[in-house]
Amino acid sequence: MCGIVGAVATRNIVPVLVQGLQRLEYRGYDSCGVAVWDQGLKRARSTARVAELLAQIDQGALAGSTGIAHTRWATHGAPAVHNAHPHFSHGPGDHASDRPGRIALVHNGIIENHEALRAELQGRGYRFSSQTDTEVICHLVDSLYEGDLFDAVQAALRRLHGAYAIAVFCKDEPHRVVGARAGSPLILGVGAEGERYLASDAMALAGVTDQIVYLDEGDIADLQLGRHWIVDKAGKPAERPVKTVQAHSGAAELGPYRHYMQKEIFEQPRAIADTLEGVQAVVPELFGDGAHRVFTEIDSVLVLACGTSYYAGCTAKYWLEGIAKIPTQVEIASEYRYRDSVPNPRTLVVTISQSGETADTLAALRHARSLGMEHTLTVCNVSTSAMVRECKLAYITRAGAEIGVASTKAFTTQLAALFLLTLALATTKGRMDEDAAATHLQAMRHLPAALSAVLALEPQVIGWAEQFVPRENALFLGRGLHWPIAMEGALKLKEITYIHAEAYAAGELKHGPLALVTSAMPVVTVAPNDALLEKLKSNMQEVRARGGVLYVLADADTRIESEDGIHVIRMPEHSGPLSPLLHVVPLQLLAYHTAVARGTDVDKPRNLAKSVTVE
Ligand code: M6R
Repeated sequence: MCGIVGAVATRNIVPVLVQGLQRLEYRGYDSCGVAVWDQGLKRARSTARVAELLAQIDQGALAGSTGIAHTRWATHGAPAVHNAHPHFSHGPGDHASDRPGRIALVHNGIIENHEALRAELQGRGYRFSSQTDTEVICHLVDSLYEGDLFDAVQAALRRLHGAYAIAVFCKDEPHRVVGARAGSPLILGVGAEGERYLASDAMALAGVTDQIVYLDEGDIADLQLGRHWIVDKAGKPAERPVKTVQAHSGAAELGPYRHYMQKEIFEQPRAIADTLEGVQAVVPELFGDGAHRVFTEIDSVLVLACGTSYYAGCTAKYWLEGIAKIPTQVEIASEYRYRDSVPNPRTLVVTISQSGETADTLAALRHARSLGMEHTLTVCNVSTSAMVRECKLAYITRAGAEIGVASTKAFTTQLAALFLLTLALATTKGRMDEDAAATHLQAMRHLPAALSAVLALEPQVIGWAEQFVPRENALFLGRGLHWPIAMEGALKLKEITYIHAEAYAAGELKHGPLALVTSAMPVVTVAPNDALLEKLKSNMQEVRARGGVLYVLADADTRIESEDGIHVIRMPEHSGPLSPLLHVVPLQLLAYHTAVARGTDVDKPRNLAKSVTVE
């Protein structure tokens, strides 16, 4: 999703801006650009990669000490150079020449009232050169400019409806950049020699500064050489602490791996071990101060999340209801935020998010709070994210930076955290004794070794992937705890291979999707040896009887064997409720190797963004 970098300095800041964009590339984008002050406004834009933008900059010798830069993920207007940011204002006075006006601006988010503002500004002589909603902000700031950029931005923001993070500068105030956020992330960096920066996340500034100020919702920041100041959403001066942040470089070494996704799949044993590090016993305080009181008070759980994180929540529902006996509802955040629901103030609202910045999940959280549900907890991979700041309790997964758009290690670490939550709630509610919790915790400690054993199955999965390459459709089946794992497997396959994949609770097959099954339909089946195994075997027979080809992940003792039309990968020995963390791994590898063989852009699949910070 869109990324922003901005800076005020005395040296040529273009290399810092471009390096920042490179570190934001993982978020996904379809065009990029940079603008600087150089006796006026100058810019370079591209619909290719940031590397191409850099070549263009070198050719045109773009240089300046104040600037802003952007990676754009198209919402309003196609991915095209004229829609790429930064945008320049074109006021009534600028028409005589084709020279840019005085305001340069980049934006992340969506302005909902852009059509009305566009009509108004056109009526006043502003000339639009893009189809973006962003350009209206640029012209609006210009129209309100009376010699002070901060005042103009503040006045413009009052007219906007929607979500935004912006960075803006003016040709008449060469050493100043103004930034603002409401609904989209933006941080401020404090550097050496009085330099100040803006960025969508701290990773963009890795190697430049580790001194970070997290802006709150509604903040406006004024950056000048050697100083910055911030006003809050009420327009009052605000003190925001400078924090030292260890930001990992987005260009983290690939090592022996070909793609970040592959690296991240293989990091899972380490990621789970790190996520469990420091967990000596199952106690509520793992989730923060005051967790014991909250866990005692609540009588139900509401999980809010999107995409892969939603499937982690769907898996956790089976644990929370089956083990902790707590009624649990799991909702897609973008649905929950807009539907009429019946709030229960004794509900524990659990958000799950890798990035902690997903707009729909944040909005769903705020919606739940607005309904009077104040017991909030997040399972999140980014300790400095808005999600962590806005929830009372948190469990920080320690997957490390996840660069590949397809989430892998974040998912398994979320599952580990949610299983711990289940144990903590079960013990607090007296539904599990400490010995039983300790036994479960012991089983969790075996997960890194068990995951390594599953990763060793990679050659067999590659064999399956070769058979998936020419396919255009696939079905995934699972039952109980492993239905969400089937859904996650289908999501992985569709997002990086572009093969159409659907997942069903296997018992649903005969209620419709069986009509799709022919010899051309691969049917991936997750078959652990659990209470539903015999039911699942019947469902597999239904597929075989219609000529469907089965690809089965079977536990050792299931007595499911390879034969004509049935391909079996035997899972290593394991038992108990943690099997979803293991069964998902071959599905990640299947998607990965099929995508590589199909030649897709594995880490940056088309149309998708890593961090979905707009609605
Ligand atoms: O950062 P989040 O966990 O909140 O992101 C939620 C989804 O956007 C994310 O899981 C998405 O579905 C992934 N691309 C799936 O691989």
